[in-house]
Amino acid sequence: MESLNTSAQINAPQAAILLFGATGDLARRKLYPALYQLYRQKKLHPSFFVFGMARRPMDDETYRALVAESLENPDEQFLRHCYYQSLDVERLEDYERLQRRLLDLEASAGTAGNRLFYLSIAPDHFEPLAHHLKESGLVETAGFRRLVIEKPFGYDLPSAEKLNRALCQVFQESEIFRIDHYLGKTMVQNIEVIRFANSIFEPIWNNRYIAGIQVTASESIGVEERAGYYDRFGALRDMVQNHLLQMVAMVAMEPPSRLETEAIRDEKVKVLNALRVLSGAEIDHALVRGQYVRGIVDGEIRRAYREEDGVDPRSTTETYVAAKIYVDNFRFAHVPFFVRTGKRLRQKITEIVVQFKDVPWNLYVKKSGRLEPNRLIIRIQPDEGIHLWLNTKQGGDRLRIAPVDMEVSRFTGIGFNSPEAYELLLYDALIGDSTNFTRWDEVAASWAWIDPIAKRFKEKGEDGLKFYPAGSMGPELADLLLSKEGLHWWEGTQA
Ligand code: BG6
Repeated sequence: MESLNTSAQINAPQAAILLFGATGDLARRKLYPALYQLYRQKKLHPSFFVFGMARRPMDDETYRALVAESLENPDEQFLRHCYYQSLDVERLEDYERLQRRLLDLEASAGTAGNRLFYLSIAPDHFEPLAHHLKESGLVETAGFRRLVIEKPFGYDLPSAEKLNRALCQVFQESEIFRIDHYLGKTMVQNIEVIRFANSIFEPIWNNRYIAGIQVTASESIGVEERAGYYDRFGALRDMVQNHLLQMVAMVAMEPPSRLETEAIRDEKVKVLNALRVLSGAEIDHALVRGQYVRGIVDGEIRRAYREEDGVDPRSTTETYVAAKIYVDNFRFAHVPFFVRTGKRLRQKITEIVVQFKDVPWNLYVKKSGRLEPNRLIIRIQPDEGIHLWLNTKQGGDRLRIAPVDMEVSRFTGIGFNSPEAYELLLYDALIGDSTNFTRWDEVAASWAWIDPIAKRFKEKGEDGLKFYPAGSMGPELADLLLSKEGLHWWEGTQA
């Protein structure tokens, strides 16, 4: 399936890729494999180098061995493009040393002074790092300078604003690429294509025909080694503020007038600004907050969240959130959007379900009973696909109507945490296309919606927190969110 991203035809310019956090999990699991794929597909300019930095002292050879470990069939040629220097983010001298070494490397590699700074480090370091980049002169370069920054972009709106102010003293908005790796997923990019390149959906994509929209991002994994971060952030900040709200924006946005970065982002931000902000008891009614307890996932007993290493045994952090959201605009007035996400759920699924309203006059009710509504399902992972559920007559004499799934799907073979999204995003950053990155006003609008909810969750603590067994689909209360509207969660498409 082709994505909206047409950038594959553009040649990436020569560049130095400066990776802060070079020994971290993200770098090893995603960034090196993604860079290597780009290299193998000849999408990197021949004049490039990767310059890794982390606190640990190491020479280039040791670093190359570390990079090689994260690659399948590593190629010596590629590894020769990798260099390393230890760096303490707080120490200005380290940046100055880096600057000197870079000037030499740039001259020999012919990267024209183009510098891509990639921050894959703990968020507490973002601000001092940006400050030191400026002070050391690292951002004064003959070529382009771009900053790619991983989430979380702030903890709430005030901290995100503070961070943004610090970054804007060093980089311009157009040079900042805020990663939301869901925007690098093929089927997320496909939402706009499905909507805007087909004439059959757009006329019915509104409150006259749509009964409700569901966005599910369930995971079967737990918190893994990230308890320190996760116990502070929880599912609301970790998944809803970014990935889920971005998917809602793409489903609900108006068609942009041009297929251009800012035109697309302008439409997305309008949706985020139109989210109905909730407060107090409204939050208790529209959101379900859960935490997993012991249970069985994929045949294995899994411990409770509170028993995970590094988690406070009395933690009230949510590992599951379901929410009913309204987009208060002309197109989607009164259409409920239901989003849910959680750890240690039955299976890993990300999908969007658009449920259409019932036929106005059901001719078949007497003979065949209630008809299933039409549903359009955009399946993002683990398999990628589009499903359209229609009612048809089943064989035989009796009038029997049953739903059929008109399906186009493919199993990509792409594992979870695959570097594929990172390949697309790194490539986009290199060619300077920020369409699939979040603009500051989108981030700010998301936090503005999240903040009162996060505050309420904190105030309520254990009160209202629903425990669900690992391996289930979350707290039963989440079913009620939909049943109150005469709907239910779609559990139909199997992996
Ligand atoms: C990350 C979250 O942004 O997304 C993780 O921090 C989550 O908690 C991950 O596991 C899910 O990404 P994917 O691509 O595996 O769906």
